[in-house]
Amino acid sequence: MSAVRQFEPAQTVLAVEGLTSGYDAAPVVREVSFSIAAGEILVILGKNGMGKSTLLKTIMGFVRASAGKIRLAGEDITNRQPHLIARHSVAYTPQEYAIFQDLTVEENLRLGVANDTLLKERLEDVEAAFPRIVERLHQRAGTLSGGEQKMLLLSRGLIARPKIMLIDEISEGLQPTMVAKMAEVLKATKERNGVAVVLVEQNLPFALSVADRYAILKIGEIVERGDVAHADTAATLEEHLRI
Ligand SMILES: Nc1ncnc2c1ncn2[C@@H]1O[C@H](COP(=O)(O)OP(=O)(O)OP(=O)(O)O)[C@@H](O)[C@H]1O
Ligand SMILES: [Mg+2]
Repeated sequence: MSAVRQFEPAQTVLAVEGLTSGYDAAPVVREVSFSIAAGEILVILGKNGMGKSTLLKTIMGFVRASAGKIRLAGEDITNRQPHLIARHSVAYTPQEYAIFQDLTVEENLRLGVANDTLLKERLEDVEAAFPRIVERLHQRAGTLSGGEQKMLLLSRGLIARPKIMLIDEISEGLQPTMVAKMAEVLKATKERNGVAVVLVEQNLPFALSVADRYAILKIGEIVERGDVAHADTAATLEEHLRI
């Protein structure tokens, strides 16, 4: 019998198969495979420089895949341009602060939707998640605090009402109450909209509080994966993330 899986469960929204990518000579992401269903949160854990961000950038079309496939709802989107991938209801929240500093908060949010009417309608999504962002619509985004900029980044993803969210270290540099808020927003979004989330994280308590499944990336390869609900998950994962 072939070891290759011939079909996927109907609800799979993102499937990555044997994905290899990198920048120059040696690959940074090596034969990574996973799939994720609607309403699921998968956390990719790993130490600095293991290829977590590169993996998300490859899915999003910013880094070229040299081998493997990326499929969205069954459609092969490997190496398509990022704006075309975004049209498949994929929202990407990068690790680096990717908001437009000289635009207002409102103008930054406007980039997540197709028109002004939708922006008005969906501001209530942002209000429910981060009221502080809606209070600052006319403030220049560059003058927001670091934590507020992270909230704006996530809000810009949420306002698109995506089917898939790719989120890179949203908890980095945030105080514990803010991290808890991010967890609450992600869980609510997953439950309400059935969004599938690929969360890249190094904050283990945060990751375990929101994710259904985990995968550990080590030098570009998934070396371990499983369900977060499993009893000894935290101890095993801590071991992997220790410097
Ligand atoms: N644009 C680039 N050009 C060349 N090499 C790069 C580039 N971006 C990342 N790399 C290299 O690829 C490797 C993986 O980087 P990546 O940013 O994917 O890691 P990461 O797991 O997200 O790390 P961190 O936890 O520090 O964010 C690193 O060795 C990094 O130096
Ligand atoms: Mg990174």
